[in-house]
Amino acid sequence: MHANAADVEAEFLRRLNVDLPEGVDWKQGAVTYLRELVQDGGVEAEWFHLVKPFVGGPDFGPFWVDVFHFLDVVHKVDLPSRSVVVDVGCGPGWTVQWLAKLGHEVVGLDISAELLALAEQRMRTDPHTPFFEEPFHYELRVHDIEAEPLGLERPARLALFESTLHHFFDPVAALRNTAADLAPDGLVAVIEAAAPPVGSEWHAQNVELMRRYRTIERPYTRDQLHEALALAGLPHVAFYQPVNGLFRQQADELAVLSRTVARSDHLNICLAAATPEALARVERGPAPPSDPPTGLRFLDGVGLPEVGPDGSTYRWAGPRVVMAVDDGGPHRVHVSNPTLEKRGVQHVYLLVDDRVVQQVELSARSSAAELVLDVPAHSVVELQSDRAFSPSWRGEPDARVLSFRIAAPPPR
Ligand SMILES: C[S@@+](CC[C@H](N)C(=O)[O-])C[C@H]1O[C@@H](n2cnc3c(N)ncnc32)[C@H](O)[C@@H]1O
Repeated sequence: MHANAADVEAEFLRRLNVDLPEGVDWKQGAVTYLRELVQDGGVEAEWFHLVKPFVGGPDFGPFWVDVFHFLDVVHKVDLPSRSVVVDVGCGPGWTVQWLAKLGHEVVGLDISAELLALAEQRMRTDPHTPFFEEPFHYELRVHDIEAEPLGLERPARLALFESTLHHFFDPVAALRNTAADLAPDGLVAVIEAAAPPVGSEWHAQNVELMRRYRTIERPYTRDQLHEALALAGLPHVAFYQPVNGLFRQQADELAVLSRTVARSDHLNICLAAATPEALARVERGPAPPSDPPTGLRFLDGVGLPEVGPDGSTYRWAGPRVVMAVDDGGPHRVHVSNPTLEKRGVQHVYLLVDDRVVQQVELSARSSAAELVLDVPAHSVVELQSDRAFSPSWRGEPDARVLSFRIAAPPPR
């Protein structure tokens, strides 16, 4: 590694681990803590690990969360059966079992031999393999992924970190060693909670857990996870928000849902790859017409790009637009409405954290204005307007509810 790159990585790890109590051998902690949990926890602890992810109630929350998130990722990645999948930190192996039952060749690795023994027991006691008269294809290895790659014979198409990555002292090493065994189109999937705000009760609980049990409970912010993935050679990342359940077919309910999806950042569910092509495989589908790269993304409330007579690109927006600000601004956003009648006046408001922070006025005389977004990277902001119309009200065959035009020029 280049000396400068090594410094950047060391500095990243220093910042990341700033809350970790000092003088603890985390590696040994991971091994002995789990040994104590499994061996000394007795039959009840063993039973818990063997039935995971099923729970006997009364709180089914963790069950839905674990199962839906895992299945959503497997569904999204959409691998042909018999693909090689690495399950990093597979623990007692419920994901190994489900992946093997789907017909994949699973390599489950973990630093804890005790947990792998339970994973082995789980697989041995399941007589129902996916292919008739063919055994499960799986292998369980005691392995410290922070120390070195597995060195697989057949490269993996997917490496899964299910509730695991936040336990590593050095997630960059764990990701880099994992990436070394990926096929060219291979993906890394991370599923876990995102970092709670510093100073929150949950953050304090994590610090206390680390102190008491010598196990790392240090979830990442989005920025930290981006940085760790990039340092590990996996710079192409897509974050997802799962949507599971049944929803009434009713516009309001769907609007609430789209708002929730746009704003949620309490989970870190992502797919990452070394090349854009590997990620593009799971993001295929009709390619959306592209705006110039601006550091802004429209999440909701706008139509497709259109080109005006002067060659400029804009989109028609409804009365509410949700945008993600990917990089720090300031960003200039043009809003206009050339259809305002003589005395018509329209306001467009910029909301950050549900509060209006800026507003502009459009009129027939002055039909264009500029909003300046000066918010931290990875914010989600809204534009709202107090006027809307539909071309269908004038007898045109276009029933969209439109409010103003919007364009975000690329940064200079
Ligand atoms: C919270 S558990 C998750 C287990 C499993 N993925 C699940 O969802 O049931 C985290 C796992 O990471 C494993 N682990 C921690 N450090 C590790 C390392 N350096 N190499 C491999 N596994 C490690 C632990 O032994 C533990 O089984």
